[in-house]
Amino acid sequence: MIYLDYASTTPIRKEVRETYQMLLENYYGNSDSLHDVGRATAKLMEQSRAAIAQLFHVQKDEILFTSCASESNNYAMKGFAWKNAHRGKHIISTCVEHSSIHNALEQLKETFGFEVTYLPVYADGTIHLEDLKKALRKDTILVSMMLVNNETGAINPIKECAAYVHAYSRAVFHMDGVQGLGKIPISLHDVDMATFSAHKIYGLKGSAILYKKRNIELLPLLSGGQQEQGLRAGTSNAPTNIVFAKTLRLALEEQEKAYQYVQELNIYLRREIENMEDMIINSPADASCFILNFSDLKIGSEVMLNALNAKGFCVSAQSTCSSKSKAISHVLLAMGLGEVRATHAIRVSLSHMTTKDEVEKFIKALKEIHHDYRTK
Ligand SMILES: Cc1ncc(COP(=O)(O)O)c(C=O)c1O
Repeated sequence: MIYLDYASTTPIRKEVRETYQMLLENYYGNSDSLHDVGRATAKLMEQSRAAIAQLFHVQKDEILFTSCASESNNYAMKGFAWKNAHRGKHIISTCVEHSSIHNALEQLKETFGFEVTYLPVYADGTIHLEDLKKALRKDTILVSMMLVNNETGAINPIKECAAYVHAYSRAVFHMDGVQGLGKIPISLHDVDMATFSAHKIYGLKGSAILYKKRNIELLPLLSGGQQEQGLRAGTSNAPTNIVFAKTLRLALEEQEKAYQYVQELNIYLRREIENMEDMIINSPADASCFILNFSDLKIGSEVMLNALNAKGFCVSAQSTCSSKSKAISHVLLAMGLGEVRATHAIRVSLSHMTTKDEVEKFIKALKEIHHDYRTK
């Protein structure tokens, strides 16, 4: 199979796998135990936390280990909202967020009486600062926005939005940085909280972090022991947390080279698809080059996905977390691209591991499917 679904998840990097294997064998101690085996595990886990903090230029106690970005997002939404409800019950987000933000906010709204304003996006897939300015209120306690959209690659103006929120309100700014990490430069100094996942950067599944500035208080979503500053009870998944630092370091070290390389592939793929009859690109021109979303106006997403799969290609139609629902892409609809494009969308996501030959084969397969379908 030719894998072109790296925004969904990535294979584990060899160095990460080997380190993880070593950690599983040697660092099995409970990091809260007071004996030497436990202490050795705790020491490595705290070293990993410190290394992650250093890579992000933040403080060690601002990094929390979680099990996935969905969990980090739930902490940032519900953990924050519940702890800070006395300051106000209004939250701002966007209409194109990942389900782990959207559904957490819907729960806060439906069950806990919070008010949520979802900012619109435009044809370029991004939110506009003017809308945020209008939405911000005295009782707004939280603004959450994704850096890179997982379906189209559209990049939001995080720096400007966060700066405005900080200048004109007391609200806290959270960024879902999952699809940006290891791909484009990220500054955590602009934001108050941020979410990242290891399995999108050639690391382990079940491994993520929540960055949270020191002064920000969250309500624990898991009650019990003292782990992760008492916010997330349960014996720490130490080997997984330890190897996150290496995963991140390797991803950041290769980021620039990977970007240059993938950008070339993206330009080539985009041009080829643009030149095909009945094909239309949905990703904005300045989107992250790691994601290219397009629609074949004659072939629906499911038919195309299955046809590509039969020819040996792995791609997605919309967010993988929504792939089993029949719902059409809420992201493309929000961009105003219409129902046909939203129901015919295909997301290709590229990597430094993708070869030009794989892209050429993909284009050939696309042309064959397109031709077969038209001559049926
Ligand atoms: C933007 C974004 N946020 C959050 C997530 C959830 O990540 P995880 O699988 O680690 O829960 C994803 C996964 O696709 C994503 O793309």
